[in-house]
Amino acid sequence: MTDKLILRALAGETLPTPPIWMMRQAGRYLPEYRATRAEAGDFLSLCYNSELAAEVTLQPIRRYGFDAAILFADILLLPQALGADLWFVTGEGPRLSTITDQAGFDALKPADAVHEHLSPVYETVRILSRELPKETTLIGFAGAPWTVATYMIAGRGTPDQGPAHALKAENRLLFEALLDRLTEATIGYLSSQIEAGAEVVKIFDSWAGSLQGDDFQKYAIEPARRITTELKARHPETPIIAFPRGAGERYVGLHQAIGADCIALDDGVTPEWAADHVQVDGCVQGNLKSSHMVTGGDDLVRETRRVVDALSKGPHIFNLGHGITPDADPENVQLMIDTIRGG
Ligand code: CP3
Repeated sequence: MTDKLILRALAGETLPTPPIWMMRQAGRYLPEYRATRAEAGDFLSLCYNSELAAEVTLQPIRRYGFDAAILFADILLLPQALGADLWFVTGEGPRLSTITDQAGFDALKPADAVHEHLSPVYETVRILSRELPKETTLIGFAGAPWTVATYMIAGRGTPDQGPAHALKAENRLLFEALLDRLTEATIGYLSSQIEAGAEVVKIFDSWAGSLQGDDFQKYAIEPARRITTELKARHPETPIIAFPRGAGERYVGLHQAIGADCIALDDGVTPEWAADHVQVDGCVQGNLKSSHMVTGGDDLVRETRRVVDALSKGPHIFNLGHGITPDADPENVQLMIDTIRGG
């Protein structure tokens, strides 16, 4: 039996105090992150500099003693490895060359050609598996095919994923070919992270919630299920966390539908509802509103306790409902942790 708390929760154990980590825990709210990013030059250079990417991954572990470290990288490195151009506009977010027609799709590399480009990421994982404290779990990740496709089709983040929905309506074959290519590449990418030392992997489907009707099953659940099925065949011991953000009532039954060990909850569902409808099927992760990391105070303490109490009767990993934002106060993170660990 492992003494890593995250692995115990993922194996289905109900713990007296939930293990804790935060999405985007290495990020701009931390002065030490901003300093290392400046040293690297820019965000993408930081992602591909294995030593510095490992350093920023370790920073929140040193400061707060989180139970898990998440590999520092980005979901958009995979499309870049497939041949898309990628750059980040400061204050605005990612930009990519767009895929809107067959010629754009045909220019992509095959799924198994991504590894050389991604080798610095695997090196970051290897460094971390040597340097992390023995009680800390290392989480690798990738974006889900649908979410990554929304950025590849639009060339940027979009409020409603309009361009991806439009391509799906106008050229379903091309859209499905793109999702297939991403599904295959994601399997290879996550497998390689596991082989380099990732102990858990997480699939981020940030825009799953915008898929309506049958599309949710076809383009959020089925690709995730293909990924988990293949990863479980290759690496049966490695737990998988799935995060179909915005699923709402469709969170019910997803452990089985996806074949995931843990379902990550956003803050669109209450922890009480999730205890009754999702945690009954296995471990859940979440789901404090990340705005509490900005506002702090009594509300933070009350809502943190509420999440812990509501999910205390089953396996639970404490997290936010989405990534911590750059305007968060590092002291509020400490207050959240003290509230959970100090009772
Ligand atoms: O959680 C972590 O600490 C691990 C590293 C991580 C990053 N991005 C680092 C990052 C992870 C797991 C991601 C996932 C990611 N990236 C997602 C899925 C999760 C989610 O947030 O919904 C998405 C959609 C992306 C794409 C992406 N990367 C966007 C839209 C942006 C711009 C928005 C922003 O916050 O600036 C990024 C940039 C990014 N990725 C930053 C970090 C720390 C900020 C970049 C910087 O330092 O300037």
